[in-house]
Amino acid sequence: MKKVTAFVGTARKKHTYYAVRRFLDNLKSLGGVECEIIALTDHRVKMCRGCKHCFRKGEEFCPLKDDRDVLIGKMMASDGVVFATPNYSYQVSAIMKMFLDRLGFVFHRPRFFGKTFTSIVAQGIYGGSKLVKYLDFVGMGLGFNVVKGSCTTALDPMSEKERETIDGIVQGHSRRFHAGLSQPPYPVPALVKLLAFRAARTSMRVMLDETSRDFTYYRDKGWFEADYFYPTRLGVLKKATGSLVDLFATGIARNRES
Ligand SMILES: Cc1cc2nc3c(=O)[nH]c(=O)nc-3n(C[C@H](O)[C@H](O)[C@H](O)COP(=O)(O)O)c2cc1C
Repeated sequence: MKKVTAFVGTARKKHTYYAVRRFLDNLKSLGGVECEIIALTDHRVKMCRGCKHCFRKGEEFCPLKDDRDVLIGKMMASDGVVFATPNYSYQVSAIMKMFLDRLGFVFHRPRFFGKTFTSIVAQGIYGGSKLVKYLDFVGMGLGFNVVKGSCTTALDPMSEKERETIDGIVQGHSRRFHAGLSQPPYPVPALVKLLAFRAARTSMRVMLDETSRDFTYYRDKGWFEADYFYPTRLGVLKKATGSLVDLFATGIARNRES
């Protein structure tokens, strides 16, 4: 049984919830999946103060006391994760953004490898597809394997025609996500992901030291010497390109230091 958890960032249980519920019901009917909806509004999600203690010293030094770690625990305990939000002023909702900011240190030290991610955006008229791209990028930054998300459109009240269109979009999306859950959890990374890893870890190795949590995290995970975040078999081309990026990143980082 795979566990899928949807984190929903909206104050009202209308169109975003409708899409999420349809999505999860479809997954359940495709089989082998159990689901949970987490309403971010039912949790304490405080606004990041920007002190960067989490980046530098470690997330346990965060001065905010809220449900960040409960929510991260829920993500860790899931095989599949969905971030769902309405489009508010061409952006994710405020509560969703506050939640993403609370995960800020995870972009430095990604950890959701082997898990599948997707996004659901509900909009009235326009702009939601950019938010899908944004959230899918966020999912990748957190370490997930990403299945492209979906955007649904409806005015209030939702018309029958809009409902039918949404049902169709969500059905296709849930099928793709269900298939994604059964893909190998640790795929060979795409070149762009490999290069991002190499550039980040090499500049961390050169520019940071033991006083930085990013440094000790990467060191303790063996990431300074690794091909990628997790064991993988790189082809000759990727191996060679990775080494070149290590070389360039070392040069750039040393230049910035001097
Ligand atoms: C403050 C606010 C800003 C909004 N901004 C946009 C927008 O930029 N683009 C859009 O298409 N819809 C926008 N909408 C409409 C919502 O995206 C739409 O009603 C959506 O279905 C809300 O999700 P919900 O039903 O789950 O609350 C906005 C709604 C609100 C309340």
